Amino acid sequence: MGRAEAFALSNPPLLSFWDGATSGFGYMTVLMVIAIIRELLGFGTLLGYPIVPEGFTPWTIMVTPPRSGIGWWMAIVLLAAMRKKIEKSPIPETLQGTAISSVLAALIYITDLIANNYGEVNISINNGKKDLLVKGGSPLLATLANEKVFLPSACGGKGTCGACKVKTLSDVGPVMPTEIPYLSPAELNDSIRLACQVKLKKDISIQIPEELFNIQQYRARVEKINDVTHDIKEVHLALPESMTISFKTGQYVQFEVPPYRKIKTPTFRAYSMASEPAENNKVELLIRLVPGGIVTTYVHEVLQEGQEINVTGPFGDFYVRDTDATMICVAGGSGMAPFKSIFKNMITTGTINDRVIWYFFGAKTSIDMYYLDWLYALDEKYPNFHFVAALSEPEEGTKWRGATGLITEVMDQYFQASINKDFPLEGYLCGSPGMLDACMDVMKKNNMQEDKIYFDKF
Ligand SMILES: Cc1cc2nc3c(=O)[nH]c(=O)nc-3n(C[C@H](O)[C@H](O)[C@H](O)COP(=O)(O)OP(=O)(O)OC[C@H]3O[C@@H](n4cnc5c(N)ncnc54)[C@H](O)[C@@H]3O)c2cc1C
Ligand code: FES
Repeated sequence: MGRAEAFALSNPPLLSFWDGATSGFGYMTVLMVIAIIRELLGFGTLLGYPIVPEGFTPWTIMVTPPRSGIGWWMAIVLLAAMRKKIEKSPIPETLQGTAISSVLAALIYITDLIANNYGEVNISINNGKKDLLVKGGSPLLATLANEKVFLPSACGGKGTCGACKVKTLSDVGPVMPTEIPYLSPAELNDSIRLACQVKLKKDISIQIPEELFNIQQYRARVEKINDVTHDIKEVHLALPESMTISFKTGQYVQFEVPPYRKIKTPTFRAYSMASEPAENNKVELLIRLVPGGIVTTYVHEVLQEGQEINVTGPFGDFYVRDTDATMICVAGGSGMAPFKSIFKNMITTGTINDRVIWYFFGAKTSIDMYYLDWLYALDEKYPNFHFVAALSEPEEGTKWRGATGLITEVMDQYFQASINKDFPLEGYLCGSPGMLDACMDVMKKNNMQEDKIYFDKF
């Protein structure tokens, strides 16, 4: 028996700590080995967090596992000591498991309180144009929104849209694996981050486009809800009397759904405005039901006329470029929304005949088609406006005046037969990612320049 152990045994209160320390040492060694092997095999993260802080070299990783291992070791020592104490206490054996779990739960709670208490932190925006003193510990996106600084967000902070990019001017912590798919090497180099994935732990400095300071949140009243197809609703919102919205056609708003049924927190999604800028105290949206979708299920099953909801905007860079190039517009489903806004605005401002417009709208069957009368009427009235509707699976026996086939195939035929490819062309696409990718291929095959194709992927 070593002198230290003998000392611990002759001092009973120390015994439990000795036991914990020795078993903790074993755990620490195992954790160190796992961390080193993970790092050598190239897995840089554990539970989504980097094992090795940014800037560490292959040599310094040898230091990191022991360092984080020491934290684990201390926790294990403490737990083992508690276990020993409980075993030696008068607590009946049958209740000892519960006692250990309770101690563990209390430890986790206290650790969480300590680890997540970052106190107050300062966010400096655009080199001090705005300084916000806020409580640390929450994601940057949500913290800014609470302070009425709204960044674009199409997924409501889930880290799945890449819309909330922000330039950081100070260290805000390591890049999360969830951000990597949305940031190009150039953006990573330029310290661009996803605001919904950055947790505020210290004072930071960021740069945002000036126009984002003008984005407002509106408490809007649902004026009317119309069914336009079996799964698409027109939602008409009236903004508060004292407020107006100024936007470019094609832009979107974030629509907030309050907690309902099993959804415990407010949920945000992006919806393109179908209304035109001239009606600046109204917003119209076209919302297609996604089975099982949080926001669309709410809109289709819960939302009532007369109800008030929050919308924030305008956001987005899907708007008509100020050129005289021919516009090749393609949409499917609720992708009609921005084009409704664009064409209505062109009629109001008398610009619809200023450039050639081709509008291709694709649907599966006739029950998925809508606004046909309005669009064919525009086609007849305005010589430069051409509307082509296509059904990919028309029902047998129904009268169908439009084209048949996938909208991409139909568009390709028009590229060969009708569209003047000698004139500059611009593409405007709105719909599902699959449809957009297929449209891009057809457009590029027909010599359209990729950087002249603008899109919003729904
Ligand atoms: C810039 C922009 C503008 C948009 N404008 C419109 C618009 O005008 N009208 C409109 O209806 N939608 C629009 N969307 C899509 C919208 O933001 C939501 O993603 C969509 O309505 C689904 O929301 P949810 O909460 O009901 O579904 P979620 O709860 O987010 O999703 C539930 C499940 O459905 C899947 N899913 C999500 N979206 C789709 C989809 N479109 N098709 C199939 N499966 C899906 C998800 O992967 C998930 O598994 C737009 C998106 C963007 C990025
Ligand atoms: S809000 Fe969608 S990725 Fe950040």
